[in-house]
Amino acid sequence: MDTKLLKPDDKNKDALLKEAAAIIRSGGLLGIPTETVYGLGADGLNPRAVTNIFLAKGRPQDNPLILHVPDVSWLERYCHDIPDLAYELADLFWPGPLTMILPKKDTVPSETAAGLDTVGIRCPANDLTREIIRLADRPVAAPSANISGKPSCTTAEAVMEDFSGRIDAVIDDGPCGIGVESTVIDMTVTPPQILRPGGMPAETLEAVIGSISVDKAATRTLKADETPRSPGMKYRHYAPKAPVTAFTGEADATARAIKEALSEGCGIICFEEYIPLFDGFPVQTLGQSHDALAHARHIFSALRAFDHLPVTRILAQCPGPDGLDFAVSNRLKKAAGFHIIEV
Ligand code: TXA
Ligand code: MG
Repeated sequence: MDTKLLKPDDKNKDALLKEAAAIIRSGGLLGIPTETVYGLGADGLNPRAVTNIFLAKGRPQDNPLILHVPDVSWLERYCHDIPDLAYELADLFWPGPLTMILPKKDTVPSETAAGLDTVGIRCPANDLTREIIRLADRPVAAPSANISGKPSCTTAEAVMEDFSGRIDAVIDDGPCGIGVESTVIDMTVTPPQILRPGGMPAETLEAVIGSISVDKAATRTLKADETPRSPGMKYRHYAPKAPVTAFTGEADATARAIKEALSEGCGIICFEEYIPLFDGFPVQTLGQSHDALAHARHIFSALRAFDHLPVTRILAQCPGPDGLDFAVSNRLKKAAGFHIIEV
């Protein structure tokens, strides 16, 4: 299969969006841009198309997909017993990086929900993708567009790297504005619980809802007898080929600790201001240490970049625990298999 890279501009936009919607309607696979990461999309109501997403990614069958909708009015097509709070959050934060878990209607095939009686719904903040969903008149099921276990993709080129020849097309809308996946919040429990930290900081949600707990799978490795509430949280994730060690603590101190731990074959992920410390080693930057949005935008491309370099070990400065950095540090710690050095 020849995978098309479709880059809409002012002249060809209408035709390309129609072509993309036709791919969805005919049961094909389409790389879609969102504000968080690129998604691997298909008709979320078509069991065969959805099964092909799992096959293309090598994704475990018990890990449910998120349904993407163009606006809040589609919520009732796929969910029941929707609490008022869900409408309030949609009103405040959609389109945006927030996925809400709600009781699912029978309209959603069990393949999409991986057998659960709930479904995750999100309205992405990308005009092209929302328009494709509207034109297709289908909710688009889309996990992150990466081979299962690898770091997610924040550019169309990265999606091509993982899926060229195996999907119908990728819509290229440039690099993603946020760079880490959506925050997943379970609305079926009171108070709601965060199952996956993401692009919508917990503090922003807490300002509306009050205190929210975060599932323990987000911060540490689970013990053998523990189950995460979000199936995806139990799998090894975001991992480049070389093993990663994450250094947590104050930035000056973690930079010094990495410098002391350096050996031949090391690759470094660090904040911009510490690059000169690692002269002679391959370095990927997360941006300035105070710039959480830059960390989010850089984390996956930094991890993926080392797969093209001859490094045997990756040492990384880990962002702090607050705001958007919480999601970035979660991704980095998972990439490290929770191999963490606290400085
Ligand atoms: O930003 C995002 O959310 C991206 C873009 C493409 O929208 N999508 C994404 O999908 O990250 P995925 O499949 O890579 O991650 C979805 C996460 C998984 O951890 C999955 O287990 C969880 O959401 N999830 C989905 N449906 C769920 C459900 N019904 N109950 C609990 N967790 C669910
Ligand atoms: Mg994913």
